[in-house]
Amino acid sequence: MSGKFISFEGPDGAGKTSVIQQIKADLVDQLGDNRVLYTREPGGSPIAEQIRRVLFAPENKNMDARTEALLFAASRRQHVVSTLRPALAAGKVVLCDRYLDSSLVYQGAGRQLGMETIWKLNQYAIDGLLPNLTINLDVPSELGLRRIAEHRSNQVNRLDKEKLSFHHMVRHAFLELQKADPDRIKLIDSSQSLDRVVADVKRVINQRYPELFANEIQR
Ligand SMILES: Nc1ncnc2c1ncn2[C@@H]1O[C@H](COP(=O)(O)OP(=O)(O)OP(=O)(O)O)[C@@H](O)[C@H]1O
Ligand SMILES: [Mg+2]
Repeated sequence: MSGKFISFEGPDGAGKTSVIQQIKADLVDQLGDNRVLYTREPGGSPIAEQIRRVLFAPENKNMDARTEALLFAASRRQHVVSTLRPALAAGKVVLCDRYLDSSLVYQGAGRQLGMETIWKLNQYAIDGLLPNLTINLDVPSELGLRRIAEHRSNQVNRLDKEKLSFHHMVRHAFLELQKADPDRIKLIDSSQSLDRVVADVKRVINQRYPELFANEIQR
């Protein structure tokens, strides 16, 4: 039995973590706790979480861009091997809070290392494991940053502090990726209320997997 790998992407403050929490709760109701996994990047396994701490430590603000890209890829590799592959092999629905696309966007476009370079680097890490479905939560940069500032100002990390132009570039790159791979990546308007965003996400998941949220979606 093979599982379902769904990644959630989008700029900071888009609502990824909030949306996944609701989606997860409803899937657990439908399928049971042991059939659904929430996980996140960077992190998602004990070793990968240690790498996450290095990446986000405020004192590491002088980290070289290539070092950063390699650490993200290293963290991803461990996540794939320790967490993602076993969960998928067990047939679970895996809800992953950021994955490969975030590296393509933040390190490839944002840090200007080149999306192609980051893609190649990550092939070694993911060894063929692409999501079955990627939800791109799209939000204007100012709105995403405002949400973080209003609700989560005590948790702003090193990367949230990048300037606005960086965030514009990030949003744009996520949209480019979606256009290049519209079959895998589905665009959701995340400037809507959380309830509406969650409803749109459920509809997109149901289109790919008709057995999920079948009782909630009107056809
Ligand atoms: N649709 C929405 N409308 C209004 N506020 C929202 C919405 N979605 C999320 N928020 C709020 O915005 C803030 C950021 O949301 P959240 O942490 O889920 O975003 P994120 O995409 O996971 O961000 P990050 O990339 O920084 O992890 C939270 O305080 C959340 O409550
Ligand atoms: Mg989040």
